[in-house]
Amino acid sequence: MAKKRRQRSKEWYDRHRQDAFVQRARQEGYRSRAAFKLEEIDRRDRLLKPGMRVVDLGAAPGGWAQLASNKIGRHGILVCIDLLPMKPIRGVSIIQADFLDQDAKYKIINALGEQKADLVISDMAPNLSGITVSDQARSLELLHGVLLSCRSLLRPGGDLVVKLFEGEGVADFRQACSRDFVCCNIRKPDASRARSREHYLVAKGFRNEVVVPVEEENS
Ligand SMILES: C[S@@+](CC[C@H](N)C(=O)[O-])C[C@H]1O[C@@H](n2cnc3c(N)ncnc32)[C@H](O)[C@@H]1O
Repeated sequence: MAKKRRQRSKEWYDRHRQDAFVQRARQEGYRSRAAFKLEEIDRRDRLLKPGMRVVDLGAAPGGWAQLASNKIGRHGILVCIDLLPMKPIRGVSIIQADFLDQDAKYKIINALGEQKADLVISDMAPNLSGITVSDQARSLELLHGVLLSCRSLLRPGGDLVVKLFEGEGVADFRQACSRDFVCCNIRKPDASRARSREHYLVAKGFRNEVVVPVEEENS
């Protein structure tokens, strides 16, 4: 009985806190409360700096993009991609496409210009069907797609922030990240619901030893 009461009050507190983030997003003009997740990660890991080149995967409606674009300033480059349409943000390139499509990667590379990105951020999440096995498989497909694409999008020494849902296959993904980056840490920002399996992996110092052409990535 006491356990149930404790759980109910924890759920109430969690909901209340989430509402506070929604309200704060409204007050501060952010399109989503997700902005506060990236803000907290950035405060801790010091990722976003003026003049940086950033790729934002799964960017709509654009809370992360608004925050990132403010932080990198007008000398930075931000390229966003999402399946869904996204309202424009001044100075930001927006691509509406499936990130897993080969063409989409070419579009991102073109939008970045001559140099690769300093930072790739991915808040991508598949549409959930409620069938755990297929949802997790889809989520892993996105995760591995992100890691592989770092070879064509991210400069050596660059950083990655990627959302993951704890479950089968994630340990292997984390191991693959540890091979490709100098250091990896898991973060669970306050704005992320406590009961959600969502976490963020912050990987720093990309070891991009092999340059893989986009065609090979997709084969
Ligand atoms: C949680 S939302 C991102 C929220 C965003 N970071 C913000 O701050 O507003 C996840 C997004 O991932 C996008 N997404 C999922 N799979 C994708 C794919 N294969 N290619 C591009 N975008 C994808 C969805 O359309 C959705 O808009």
